[in-house]
Amino acid sequence: MTASSKSPADSRQRVGIVGGGQLARMMAEAAPHLDLELTVLDPTPGAPASDFASQIVADYDDRSALRELAQASDVVTLDIEAVSASALATLEASGATVAPSSRVLGIIQDKFVQKEFLAAHGLPTGRYAAIDTAAALDAFGLPCILKARRHGYDGRGVRRVSTTADAASLLDGGPCMAEAIVDIDKELAIMVARNARGEIALYPVVEAEFDAAANILNTIKAPAAVSPDVAAQCAALATRLVTALDGIGIFGIEFFLDRSGQVLINEISPRPHNSGHYTIEACATSQFEQHLRAVTNMPLGPTTLLKPAASFNLLGDPQAFGVPAYAGLDDAQRMPGVTVHLYGKLSVKPYRKMGHVTVTGASGGDAADKAHRLQQLVKVGGSGR
Ligand SMILES: Nc1ncnc2c1ncn2[C@@H]1O[C@H](COP(=O)(O)OP(=O)(O)OP(=O)(O)O)[C@@H](O)[C@H]1O
Ligand SMILES: [Mg+2]
Repeated sequence: MTASSKSPADSRQRVGIVGGGQLARMMAEAAPHLDLELTVLDPTPGAPASDFASQIVADYDDRSALRELAQASDVVTLDIEAVSASALATLEASGATVAPSSRVLGIIQDKFVQKEFLAAHGLPTGRYAAIDTAAALDAFGLPCILKARRHGYDGRGVRRVSTTADAASLLDGGPCMAEAIVDIDKELAIMVARNARGEIALYPVVEAEFDAAANILNTIKAPAAVSPDVAAQCAALATRLVTALDGIGIFGIEFFLDRSGQVLINEISPRPHNSGHYTIEACATSQFEQHLRAVTNMPLGPTTLLKPAASFNLLGDPQAFGVPAYAGLDDAQRMPGVTVHLYGKLSVKPYRKMGHVTVTGASGGDAADKAHRLQQLVKVGGSGR
């Protein structure tokens, strides 16, 4: 589909999305009953969202394409974080509404600036420092977690370093931030949405298992097996955080629960998040519908957990290239309570997110057990290079 301009008879709100990947695709799947018209901007022809939305084919930072997107939209939002905040600021200056705003994106895009924001608002997070040199790293103290300040995602740009030699390639790649290693008991996350009326909707706290080999969050369990007090702390922190940000849209907030019982904020993502995919099947309003409601300033929907659930990513196998070849799908699709989501990506790469699977169960633990069994069954190989 191609982008169109609005006719006077058309009262539908139009949403432009920078990025046409799986998040935009799942927003588009949530859009029809809200009567929204969607356009995505993505450099890859046939991007995942283009099956359900108009697509402008151009780079995310192409200023004239961004202008075209803004002209075809009442509000511009994001499916990726790697968009130039200054290009979005230019759009805002010309009268476009961008949600989340370029200011919010600018804070979140740089992990160090994000930490500074948390610290300035008294929000709990671990010890950190901006690091540009091996000497600065030594002064911070080793071992530690070293992160690229920008453009890290899915664990890329995050490394546990014990010596300055371990850190060399990351430091050579650009400005970094060091963090003290948290003695993690559980990794938790919460989705929180806020609209321009200042309404806030919080989802249940979920638990994320980390896959060390892929360096990626693996199974999500909803609800998390944590005390009501820990869940309440996460909810209160998410509310304070999104309010302090004056953020519009949905945000994924990741937390560490450390072994002393303390809740620390790890990071924020200014968009629907992997840890909220389960909401499609398990909550009264999915994170994708909620995001669209928030950015178009509709009332937010109920976030009730209707049934416990678990979800996991379908990642490309470590050696997979070329046209994707899915194994185990038939068996998975036959199982009650299992929903397989494929993102329509035309090629697979090692660890590329090709889809996800959500499993509902009698409890979060029961759903997670089923998810673990399914993870052995469903695989994404490829046709070769
Ligand atoms: N300070 C820390 N102490 C201990 N482990 C950490 C720390 N920071 C990060 N990690 C581990 O590394 C993982 C990835 O870190 P982070 O969430 O900052 O990176 P990311 O690439 O943005 O992740 P993603 O895109 O997958 O959310 C965390 O989920 C956690 O397992
Ligand atoms: Mg993370």
